Amino acid sequence: MSTQIEETLVLVKPDGVARNLSGEILRRIEAKGYSLVDVKLVEPDRSLLAAHYAEHEGKPFFEPLVEFMESGAVLALRIAGERVIEGFRALAGTTDPTTAAPGTIRGDLGRDWGGKVQQNLVHGSDSPESAARELALWFD
Ligand code: TYD
Ligand code: MG
Repeated sequence: MSTQIEETLVLVKPDGVARNLSGEILRRIEAKGYSLVDVKLVEPDRSLLAAHYAEHEGKPFFEPLVEFMESGAVLALRIAGERVIEGFRALAGTTDPTTAAPGTIRGDLGRDWGGKVQQNLVHGSDSPESAARELALWFD
């Protein structure tokens, strides 16, 4: 276990921005003790999204996922703290918002809106390698 300060990429997805939950999500990140390093509202294009979700290319949910992510503004956050990569994933909860644990962002604020698991409010990088790659895509 490292005590070094890490950075990770968080995205408030179009459903979170459209439902005016950006503030609530930021509140949870700040209340947990993580720092905001950079913030930007983005209308991501397909090439950014295809690069961001490259690991999922070819999967059945890839196309609906990219279409959903293109459907509105996304709030990109660069946040920092010790073990923030795994810490934010824990705050976010598991992928499917219907069954994500209460107490998590997805579990408290998300649900099924018609079989669309992609509408799960937030993205968080899943490893140090993903965080470095994704931060470079969205911020550099
Ligand atoms: P994934 O990286 O597996 O989930 P997470 O966001 O929890 O890291 O998948 C990326 C996104 O793709 C996920 O947030 C929602 C969407 N998705 C689906 O729509 N259907 C699926 O079966 C999976 C696994 C993901
Ligand atoms: Mg993922």
